[in-house]
Amino acid sequence: EPNLPLKNKKVVITAGGTKERIDPVRYITNDSSGKMGYSLAIAARNLGADVCLISASKTLQTPYGVSLIPVETAQQMHHAVDVEFDTASIVIMSAAVSDYRPEQVLNEKIKKNEQEMILKLVKNKDILATLGSQKKHQFLIGFAAETTNVEEYAKGKLVKKKADMIVANDVSKPHAGFNKDTNEVTIFMVDEEPVELSVNSKQAIAEEILAIALTKMTK
Ligand code: PMT
Repeated sequence: EPNLPLKNKKVVITAGGTKERIDPVRYITNDSSGKMGYSLAIAARNLGADVCLISASKTLQTPYGVSLIPVETAQQMHHAVDVEFDTASIVIMSAAVSDYRPEQVLNEKIKKNEQEMILKLVKNKDILATLGSQKKHQFLIGFAAETTNVEEYAKGKLVKKKADMIVANDVSKPHAGFNKDTNEVTIFMVDEEPVELSVNSKQAIAEEILAIALTKMTK
């Protein structure tokens, strides 16, 4: 059906900021609300897709008709994405995945003691880059949240992570990025000129991202 171009196709979307535990009462996270990912889930559902939303956000309401897989850590998100990947047509990594996690997750609350405390972090695997190296038919969309050299870093991520599209966010702009209701992005694709999407609601931006992905997928 022309109006439902994603009918019978599975779209996997990650959303929110992962939480990396330090001890039972403390964690490391970031400012991602999940709004961009949830907007993409609604947009994909409206195009007829079977949407699987892998979310580290606990505050947003699950959109009607979307299946939710709640996760907390980057490792849990990675596992959940892996399980869905083979049968996915499109994967969209809009989550803000923690680059590092504490080396140890302590079972007991850390007691206040010395004047200084050193917390050792280890690197999380890059989910998008792993998918890029494994992909077959999947159309892979990543994001890039940057504060400087947006074009250079976004193009770097497109190549290095073998994505089909990178949606670049200049998160230093007042109406873009973490926890806002609006966004302003530039889309980078292999062998295409960059496409700038001016300030709009995250819902409208999500619809534009999917419309552009669809044109590229059928090329
Ligand atoms: O959730 P909101 O409040 O609505 O905010 C939306 C957003 C700003 C979080 C979103 O638009 C966005 O930019 N998401 C990506 C944030 C991010 O982690 O960007 P990055 O440049 O650090 O990572 C690049 C890409 O690699 C991203 O697709 C990310 O999901 C992915 N990644 C990163 C690290 C990691 N270990 N695994 C990954 O897959």
